[in-house]
Amino acid sequence: MQIRENVSLKALNTFGLDAKARYFCSLHKMGGLRSVMQWAQEHPDLPVMFLGGGSNMLFVADFPGLVVQVRLLDKEILGQDDNYFYVRAAAGENWHDFVRWTIDQNMAGLENLSLIPGTVGAAPMQNIGAYGVEVKDCIYEVQAIDWRTAEIRDFSVEECRFSYRDSFFKSVEPGRWLIVTVVFRLPRKPQWKTAYAGVREQLEGKTLNARLISDAIINIRQSKLPDPAVIGNAGSFFKNPMIPQAKWETLQAQFPGIPGWPQGDEVKLSAGWLIDQCGWKGKRDGDAGTFEKHALVLVNHGNATGAQIWDFAYAIVTSVQAKFGVTLEPEPWVVK
Ligand code: EPU
Repeated sequence: MQIRENVSLKALNTFGLDAKARYFCSLHKMGGLRSVMQWAQEHPDLPVMFLGGGSNMLFVADFPGLVVQVRLLDKEILGQDDNYFYVRAAAGENWHDFVRWTIDQNMAGLENLSLIPGTVGAAPMQNIGAYGVEVKDCIYEVQAIDWRTAEIRDFSVEECRFSYRDSFFKSVEPGRWLIVTVVFRLPRKPQWKTAYAGVREQLEGKTLNARLISDAIINIRQSKLPDPAVIGNAGSFFKNPMIPQAKWETLQAQFPGIPGWPQGDEVKLSAGWLIDQCGWKGKRDGDAGTFEKHALVLVNHGNATGAQIWDFAYAIVTSVQAKFGVTLEPEPWVVK
């Protein structure tokens, strides 16, 4: 296991921020984990973080400890029962390539999650979601290693405590568990989810299959979200906020036409709409800005620092709070 010092993470985070890791290594095989853990035990004062595709991270500062890039690769079909196919993938597999591979195997379920940047291991961490599907809908179990004890544990989908862009691994015990493999459960009789505005129009009158839906999702994403290879970004920068019913009624009276979707007792608002209404779409301050076609996506126009992106985000939060009385929460993991 080669541990390097002062390594730039610029190519390893989709914001393209030139943050540095004090120490860095890549984990290609499970066998390598023992020496990484031993190194960490010999340096008890240094923090350790795991990096997947770096697609949901904002480095506001350099990382003072060890960054472990998870490159574990493997995928296989485990079998099937009356209702599902079971497929296992290692954490370092590229998410979109994995989705397309399942489609190549004539399996459905993940097509709505096409083209989401990142890795298989990062997907359960924040329960990635798009166009009416969340990854939790297709997860059977997650295998993770306790970074403190080296215990390997299988988490059932209930134990993962998934919720909107959240999980046990992200919020309850952050930094403790390293996700190493994910087992997916993909329905043998697919239920297509095509009601989302934009998706429905593209597929009108067509005989549906997973590849067709995946292609439509790719089209939609490419038409409104920036490609991180061209312009640095981490997808949606804020979560869509949930507000109580009473607050929703007040907002509706004040701002007729405000979009909102009931979710149990609460209402989910569109963070993109709120930010847009405050005049932020396409705005920039130096190289930090919002994408011209989508106000929810913060972008690095070239040489922004993480601190500049973070200041820009803070200005957005302040103005949405002032206009609507709603507090936006960042979606990416912020390293400060
Ligand atoms: N809108 C505006 N102005 C904007 C952008 C959006 O008014 O500049 C309004 C429109 O009314 C639009 C609505 O916001 O109809 C919703 O926009 P969109 O369909 O793009 O969805 P979103 O809520 O902004 C969420 C996810 C995305 C996911 C899409 C599609 C979150 C935080 N984001 O975005 O996920 O791809 O739905 O399902 O939940 C991500 O998490 O990184 C991500 C890209």
